Amino acid sequence: MCPNHLNSINPSLEIRCADEEDAEQISALYKRVWDEFKSDFPEKLLQSRQPSKMEMIQWIQQDTYLVVVFRNSIIGVVGCKLEHGACLLTHMAVDKNHRRMGVGTALVEKVIEYAKENDSFKVWLDTAPFMSDAISLYERFGFKKSGYLQRHFWGLDVALYELVLKPQDHGDNDSM
Ligand SMILES: CC(C)(COP(=O)(O)OP(=O)(O)OC[C@H]1O[C@@H](n2cnc3c(N)ncnc32)[C@H](O)[C@@H]1OP(=O)(O)O)[C@@H](O)C(=O)NCCC(=O)NCCS
Repeated sequence: MCPNHLNSINPSLEIRCADEEDAEQISALYKRVWDEFKSDFPEKLLQSRQPSKMEMIQWIQQDTYLVVVFRNSIIGVVGCKLEHGACLLTHMAVDKNHRRMGVGTALVEKVIEYAKENDSFKVWLDTAPFMSDAISLYERFGFKKSGYLQRHFWGLDVALYELVLKPQDHGDNDSM
């Protein structure tokens, strides 16, 4: 379910749900962004983050993708996957020429809004421990590091972060 009241963060930037017609541009954006990290990531991981247009259409069909559009071009994207009452923030990327302008912040803000609208208990994500720009962005929203998986993605260590939206009610698990 796509959020229906995504606000613009400034008049020239639009943030909205992706549809299948956006697949080509999103695929090109992922290609550009993850090519920057060729020397940091295992090849198979990079490939899995660089979907073809057809694969991108499938991702859009399966989950909600939010995009930021500037002058008809997609400059930022993030996926939201709802599962087990939790929302996975996934595949976030902002075009290199448009970073540090608040695009990533706007995307994370909307993912949290989307999770709340869909009654999620939390937003969570995984990232490589050295992705410091991304991690500081998540921490600004209150995400806490909650796990560490060694040699998880084709040998790469992965850190888990979560933002709990509905804190534990001590009566929650009384019946167990
Ligand atoms: C991580 C990423 C998505 C952040 O996107 P972004 O659009 O640059 O994010 P923002 O502009 O909202 O915030 C980034 C920083 O810029 C700062 N910033 C925001 N607006 C700003 C402005 N107008 N002027 C100066 N700085 C600004 C923010 O305070 C933030 O600082 P911080 O590092 O202290 O948190 C982007 O760097 C990226 O795509 N990286 C490569 C892929 C990646 O890491 N994806 C996430 C995988 S888990």
